[in-house]
Amino acid sequence: MSQVQAKEQLPATGMRSLTRLLPFAKPYWLQFTVVFILVVIYNGSSVLQPYLVKVAIDSDISGPHPNAHGLLWVSVIYIAAVVIGVVANFSQIMMLQYAGQNVIKSIRLRLFEHIEKQSMSFFDRNALGRLVTNVSSDTETVSQFFTQFFLSLVRDGLSILMIMFAMLELNVRIGLYCLIVIPVIFAVSLLFRSRLKGAYQATRTRLSNVVSFLAENLAGMRLIQIFHQENRQERIYEAMIESHRQANVREYGLSTLFNRTLELLGKVAVSSVVWFGGGAVLHKVILFGTLYAYITYIQNFFAPINSITQQWNTLQSSMVAAERISRVLSQTPQIQDPAQPITPVQVGQLRGGVVFDHVTFSYNPGAPVLRDISFAIEPGAMIGFVGPTGAGKSSLMSLLTRFYEPEQGAIKIDGMDISSFAQDDLHRVVGLLQQDVHLFTGTVLDNIRLFREDVSEQAVVAAAQAVGAHDLIMRLPKGYHTLLLGKGANLSMGERQLLSFARVVAQNPRILILDEATASLDSQTEELVQRGLAAVSANRTTIVIAHRLSTIRHADQIYVLERGALKEHGTHEELVASGGLYANLVAESGVETSRQTDGNPPVQSQSAHVAARL
Ligand SMILES: Nc1ncnc2c1ncn2[C@@H]1O[C@H](COP(=O)(O)OP(=O)(O)O)[C@@H](O)[C@H]1O
Ligand SMILES: [Mg+2]
Repeated sequence: MSQVQAKEQLPATGMRSLTRLLPFAKPYWLQFTVVFILVVIYNGSSVLQPYLVKVAIDSDISGPHPNAHGLLWVSVIYIAAVVIGVVANFSQIMMLQYAGQNVIKSIRLRLFEHIEKQSMSFFDRNALGRLVTNVSSDTETVSQFFTQFFLSLVRDGLSILMIMFAMLELNVRIGLYCLIVIPVIFAVSLLFRSRLKGAYQATRTRLSNVVSFLAENLAGMRLIQIFHQENRQERIYEAMIESHRQANVREYGLSTLFNRTLELLGKVAVSSVVWFGGGAVLHKVILFGTLYAYITYIQNFFAPINSITQQWNTLQSSMVAAERISRVLSQTPQIQDPAQPITPVQVGQLRGGVVFDHVTFSYNPGAPVLRDISFAIEPGAMIGFVGPTGAGKSSLMSLLTRFYEPEQGAIKIDGMDISSFAQDDLHRVVGLLQQDVHLFTGTVLDNIRLFREDVSEQAVVAAAQAVGAHDLIMRLPKGYHTLLLGKGANLSMGERQLLSFARVVAQNPRILILDEATASLDSQTEELVQRGLAAVSANRTTIVIAHRLSTIRHADQIYVLERGALKEHGTHEELVASGGLYANLVAESGVETSRQTDGNPPVQSQSAHVAARL
């Protein structure tokens, strides 16, 4: 409970975060100005209406010279004022929504762009669900600041001032009596304010907890089901929505109590005006029409005050949301593009040689995951990496794709440090295939070309044919235009794997990394996928991380990694002959130790040929 309470504390920097979002509103200053003018017009019309009725009653009806002609004029002006007020009100709401929603759109876009640019370490630090909340509901909350808060401050503030002015103008003494209600209203508001604020924030925080919990659980549903965690997750979820329900009920209870108290006060004020003002009419201090105007004004007085005190909540929650948004926006990506990246032409001519030069790396300072790694890969070679789980194989590849930066040492492609490439270019040069294929909601076509319009449909078909995915795709209801549902759920694992191979061929990277890409396939699918693999690895530097040693036994070089250090390297034969770690792994897995057994020539280092045989 104490943790929840700590989170519900208002961050001290809330106001500053909110002002930091103001530049997003700058392009719409003209609209906001027009809104302001329209609000003044609307308020003027509202204040004028009771005054017109007063004029009609006091001068034209009960005055010394009743005047039907004057009555007609008052009615006409009254209608005109009402029409102008309605039109101004409508335009003001539309324009404010237009500007406000545009501001929110820019913030949402900026947030998404910013998150997209982050290095992988950012996603290690920020929970997925929390980010979903930031982009969706926090921006929604902030949008209330740009629409409701701004509007209320101007509209209701002006209303209060104008009504006060009108009441004093009619009769200073009665006007002053009426103004006594102001401190009373504010005292009541103060009394409720801190409670309302606490209740409001509790609801928001708990809702955002529910949303992030949901996002993470839906993303990890497969895992939850495999480990039979449904009941446990359900209980956690129930506790969360229960606490949200309680907060919600409390919030509504408090705010309704507050509103009804204000309403009660309003009625008391009206009855006081009837009592005192009525007395004044009887004593002929004021006219009857003036009393009518006072009663209307005092009734109109409460709505804006009520609304303005409610804006306090909007301000509070907007500050909390703005704080969370700017916390994300203020994290600059750890990995930045160089000021003058290597030109794309040069990038297109890369041959694909890879060098790791004394590379040391850790996720958390002081606990190195990779230690002093050095190796060189020839362009076009086929390289295998093996080693126990947790040895650091995937981490090594994350460095080559520059998802993370090494602590010491350098990584070079064709002699150029990878930090001298623009990240976009680097990711075109280095392709990464993982076991967990991620498919986006979209057509097969979009998924293969990854929404890149510069990859033609012919190129996509050619890529699919190369890896043997074409027949499979043609069997789908709409071929290449079949819509894949979230995460490609309507395809089998092997089919998804084939699509991801086609994706790689279509993107055509010089260097391809396969990180246990075939580990979880059944043997039948694996055969299909192995053939796809052969097409994929031809003509490019290919690095294969494999559990199944049969996948890499024909590699030009095999590296053995253990606890973050390179222990051995050589060809399959050399490593088996040396009787080290690799030889032990081979013995355990039962792979034949000699190539002659499957009819291969004994010496074999043509990678394209090797790949074709995989
Ligand atoms: N994002 C991460 N943050 C912190 N530690 C990590 C992260 N990813 C991997 N590790 C740790 O780094 C080590 C190497 O992991 P990894 O490279 O995935 O090994 P492999 O791919 O060889 O199984 C492991 O001890 C793992 O716990
Ligand atoms: Mg791994």
